[in-house]
Order: sequence, then C-alpha cells, then structure tokens
Amino acid sequence: MEIIKSPGEMQERSLQLKRQGKKIGLVPTMGFFHEGHLSLMRIARERCDAVVVSNFVNPTQFAPTEDLDAYPRDFERDCRLAEKIPVDIMFNPEKQNMYPEGFRTHVEVEGWGKKLCGASRPIHFRGVTTVVLKLFNLVMPDAAVFGWKDAQQFLILKRMVKDLDLPIEMIGGEIVREEGGLAMSSRNKYLSPEERREALVLSRSLGEAREMIEKQGIKDCGILKNHIRKQIDKTLHGKTDYVEIISLETLEPLEEVKKGDTLIALAAFFGRARLIDNVRC
Ligand code: PAJ
Repeated sequence: MEIIKSPGEMQERSLQLKRQGKKIGLVPTMGFFHEGHLSLMRIARERCDAVVVSNFVNPTQFAPTEDLDAYPRDFERDCRLAEKIPVDIMFNPEKQNMYPEGFRTHVEVEGWGKKLCGASRPIHFRGVTTVVLKLFNLVMPDAAVFGWKDAQQFLILKRMVKDLDLPIEMIGGEIVREEGGLAMSSRNKYLSPEERREALVLSRSLGEAREMIEKQGIKDCGILKNHIRKQIDKTLHGKTDYVEIISLETLEPLEEVKKGDTLIALAAFFGRARLIDNVRC
C-alpha cells in the first residue's frame, strides 16, 4: 500500500491512474478504523480499480469545545487494517498542507447544515463539505463511499455533488453494528461498560419505531418520536439531543411517515459520548 502525505503528490498520482484508465474509488475517513470503515473500503474495492482511503482528522469540522485533540488516532494500526482489504493508497495529509496560512474558502449546503446535528454543531457540516470537496479535487475519484451511519452527512454531500455537477458516483454503505445493535463509532470508546449497555436503547427504540410503522401501521411522526425519546430518557445515563423524522429528499420534518422517503434520526448523550443512529423507512 502506498502512503501519500503531500496533497500535490496525491493529485499527480490520481492523474496518472486516470491516464491508465483506472476507475478510482475514494473512502474519506478520520482514521481509527473499525468494521464500519472497513466495510466501506470493501465496497470501493469491489466497484473500483484503485482504492484510495483518506485518513485525516479534519480540524474545521470540530468546534473549539469539541474533542479534536482527544479524537482517537492509531495510524500504524489503520495501515495494517487497510492493507488487508487491500487498499491501494492511504492519503494522510498534514493539517498545515490542507489548510495553509491564508485559507479562507468554504463550501456550504445552505440550510441543511443547521438541521439535526447542525443545531448543536453549527460549523460542523461546513467543515465536512469543505474538506470533502478538497479531497474530491485532490483524488478525483469516479466513486466515493460514505456510511449511512452519518445519514445527514451523506445526504448533504450528495446534494453538494449534484448542485456542483461533480462527476462522482455517491455510494452509501449500510450501518455496521456491534453485537446487540450499537452502531460502531470511534466515540464508543468514551462509554463506560454501563453506558455502553444502556446505549443499546438507541438501535432498539429505532427498531421498535420501524415495527410500529410496519406492523401496526402507525404513521404519526409525533407518536413515533415520543416513543423513542421516552425509551432514551428512561435510562439512567442517556439524554436525548434530538429525535427527528425527515424526508430523505428535502430534509424537511414529516408529520406522517412517507414510505421510501423517511429517515428517523437521533442523537443522544451517554456520559461524554454523543452518539447518533438512524433508520430509513
Ligand atoms: P469518520 O467518522 O471517520 O467516518 C468515515 C466514514 O465511515 C463515514 O462515511 C461514516 O459514515 C462511515 N462510518 C462510520 N461508522 C460507521 C458504521 N458503523 N457503519 C458504516 N459506516 C460507518 O465521517 C467522517 O469521518 C468525516 O466527517 C469525513 C467524511 C471523513 C470528513 O472529514
């Protein structure tokens, strides 16, 4: 596996691959890989000739109060895991090369970055869209793979690709879960054993909501949201940040479930970990 640190060198290498007629697949990540990340790399491996994984903890998507410095890192381990997929190129730029002095351009999907997770993380999605557009320009992928775990992120990035006419196929990988249902996340390591046990309520209550829709024919989003919120707030350590039911097309809140166009998404705190999860119906 090649390790490339310089953005300029990454772009050169991608141009070379393109001249050779290779289909490039990109998996953007912030490292500290778990099965969720690896599942996306496998999708890229199946669909593309050359697989590039970016490994960059992007400072512009963290607020000053957030966990940028504490964000877990283990580059050596990441390389060993990626090599097994196998990934062809690991792109691991330095912060000062991605954001050199004088940097002042950002890209923003208007409005969408302020909903759901954006309500408590107002600069987050602007940082995500900006860094991903930079990665797209450096790697020039034919396809890019993102996880449905971060559903709002995926929908916002798909909107950006469409609005800016980027010739990139956007592929969504399903949420990989631990035994018991907890969605895999780098932030799960902040959970105490008890919090981890209690956090199973997230996937369980989302599953219950889906059953209420499918088996009982309940469509009222108020009833569904209340049910989920109640389950979370019944736990000792869990505190709901939001539960929202929105259209996958417009991101607008729904009053009634619309089959095939519904996302139930939530965020909740367990101790110092802020966890997210979702289901599509
Ligand atoms: P990161 O949190 O490292 O996630 C990288 C990719 O892995 C994202 O597309 C995310 O949705 C996906 N992912 C994480 N956990 C997953 C799980 N349990 N199942 C399936 N996919 C999962 O998301 C980011 O990094 C950053 O915001 C990034 C897009 C790299 C921009 O900096």
